[in-house]
Amino acid sequence: MYQIDRHFIIDVTGGSCKNFSTAAGPEQCFLLSSKNTHSMLRAMSSLVWIELDSEAPDHNVRELKACAGDGVQFCAVVKSNAYGHGTAQMVKLLPSPDWFAVNSLEEGLKLRELGVQKPVLLLGHVPLSRLREAVESDLRLTVYNRETIDALANLHHEKPARVHLKVETGTGRQGILVEEIGSFVEGIMRAEGVELEGLSTHFANIEDTLNHEYSEHQLSIFHRALQILDSMKLTPPVVHTACTAASILFPQTHFNMLRAGIGIYGLWPSRETFISAKMGAGSVPDLRPVLTWKTKIAQIKVLHEGSYIGYGCTYRATRRTTMAVLPIGYADGYDRNLGNNAYVLVHGKRAPVLGRVCMNLTMIDVTDIEGVSLENEVVLLGTWGRETISAETMAGWAGTINYEIVTRINPFLERRIL
Ligand SMILES: Cc1ncc(COP(=O)(O)O)c(C=O)c1O
Repeated sequence: MYQIDRHFIIDVTGGSCKNFSTAAGPEQCFLLSSKNTHSMLRAMSSLVWIELDSEAPDHNVRELKACAGDGVQFCAVVKSNAYGHGTAQMVKLLPSPDWFAVNSLEEGLKLRELGVQKPVLLLGHVPLSRLREAVESDLRLTVYNRETIDALANLHHEKPARVHLKVETGTGRQGILVEEIGSFVEGIMRAEGVELEGLSTHFANIEDTLNHEYSEHQLSIFHRALQILDSMKLTPPVVHTACTAASILFPQTHFNMLRAGIGIYGLWPSRETFISAKMGAGSVPDLRPVLTWKTKIAQIKVLHEGSYIGYGCTYRATRRTTMAVLPIGYADGYDRNLGNNAYVLVHGKRAPVLGRVCMNLTMIDVTDIEGVSLENEVVLLGTWGRETISAETMAGWAGTINYEIVTRINPFLERRIL
């Protein structure tokens, strides 16, 4: 085990990184996104909840911004319920970004409802039948379909439709191939009321590797697209390609706006990004995890040696076991793969998960932890004293990535700002 800093503990056994962890922060008041969800949240709030460190989000934005030069704008990606952290709460905790980006029209409209007046970019597809709503609310559209441009031209709306053309540089998902950029842009120029505001792309392989040749290849294709626009005497005001990893590792991807998500939540995109940053010449941002996930003990009992625990009888007690039942399950986003494969923190000590994670319940072993009683707090994800369960650690247990761990936390759980 090799402790790099307070964020990361890397197990380099056998030459490969096996595990890493980050620290999380604490908190205290409490915000609700809408009247409708109020009663639902109250119903669920007292047993399982999320705590958000009020200072961490903007601190993280400042750290990421410091990777870029003056004049580079910052777009905070708050899609998918702000990566599970809660859209209303995160928008409140993020005064400094110049832009916000979300995936869907609904998410964009929600930001407007919350009073966000800054530019909002929609990254995903907007149904042709709903483009008018997007333009009405001045939501910027990512475009890569001729049908979208034609439909925007046919709106004859008094407000301009501001679009960001996405270039397919090798991620193999949304975007216009570079050989089709010229004719696509001509279509935009012909479309009345449609303004080309931005040019963007997204990197495919920047987080998963220490070898960044493929990203460099994508960047060279993006430069070709810029040259094509240049030859048409067009300079889109906003040019953006950099996700968190690119923001940290590659100044040449910054252009005039960063478009970062995971880093603002204080999480690193991957251990490879962290190692690349540590090995590079630049400064390494101090990212502070924003979220702590907690619950309370719902029952404590002593089981005889040999007792089975949970569905499928996958765990059998090898000693007299003091077991605690937690009112948390895969319906809350606590991954089923954590069964027999994780621990939580009780009184700052590790308590292993026993048996399978159920839909609404999870059992833990508190035999070796003194003074545990009913309704004591339990940290599922976060820090308690000297122990931390990071999103990365949990992702390792569940066989996924930190992005998925936080994004899948049930949106109806209460998010408290401390
Ligand atoms: C198009 C686009 N841009 C930016 C981001 C932000 O990436 P990250 O969270 O790695 O910073 C995402 C994330 O999925 C994305 O899909």
